[in-house]
Amino acid sequence: MSTITVFHCSDLHFGSPAVPEQYEAMESLIQEYKYDVVAISGDLTQRARSGEFQRARAFIKHAEETSKVICIPGNHDVAWWKAPLGLGDTGRTSANYFRYISDNPEPVLQVPGATFAGLNTSHGVTMDTLTWRLRDISIIGIVTKPQIERLRKIFLDAPAGNTRVVVMHHNPVKGELSQRHGLKDTSRVLGAFADMGVDVVLCGHDHQDAIHFIEHTKKGTVISTAGTVSNRMRGGRPSSVNSIRLSADQIEVATLVWSVSDHSFVPGPTKCFKR
Ligand SMILES: [Fe+2]
Ligand SMILES: [Fe+2]
Repeated sequence: MSTITVFHCSDLHFGSPAVPEQYEAMESLIQEYKYDVVAISGDLTQRARSGEFQRARAFIKHAEETSKVICIPGNHDVAWWKAPLGLGDTGRTSANYFRYISDNPEPVLQVPGATFAGLNTSHGVTMDTLTWRLRDISIIGIVTKPQIERLRKIFLDAPAGNTRVVVMHHNPVKGELSQRHGLKDTSRVLGAFADMGVDVVLCGHDHQDAIHFIEHTKKGTVISTAGTVSNRMRGGRPSSVNSIRLSADQIEVATLVWSVSDHSFVPGPTKCFKR
């Protein structure tokens, strides 16, 4: 397989948290390097408003000029307050997401050598996402059994030998600063991923960049958690995106970090995993 380049960004939060200089720099990077794939792992908006989704749509259209794009919703793109406890489907993914971004919150993207499967972990407030911690309302993500079965089928039906990539919003690994998993039942979900041979997970939500490798007897999985590109970084850290190279013998994840003095993204931590 030839090398596949992936631009992974997350938590753009179009609306008041978005920083024009930063999202314009992302647009320039995508144009310059012509990534094979641009993956956006949710939280396109701050409050799921029309104007915010319109700006997100323009970002996606711009990226589509040079790259294939896969995008899934995050918890901020779900107008959960319109449907408490999941009453009615429109609250689960904002009607504005369907209107401006896509009618499919779980798209699948095939490129030669890799299959990217979108997984929507943002179900709004349902009986499954409620926890005893009040601040978790509408924030915690879940993966249902039918969703796992759907993923399994997608990868089984994909060309043999394709790199298997899941794009989802909530982080399955505890954030270093937040000390929280975004996702509920992480060991069950990561176990299922290993079982179906997932090579890479692209996620966000934690607003702190991280690169992990989850060891497993069956198959290890690389987890790329993209930071946010907005003014909502955790602990005063800079905004960042991840630049990924998938090749036959290795998976390389490089974090590009926003430099205030350079007004651009500059190379940050890089990790390389042999396959
Ligand atoms: Fe976010
Ligand atoms: Fe989020």
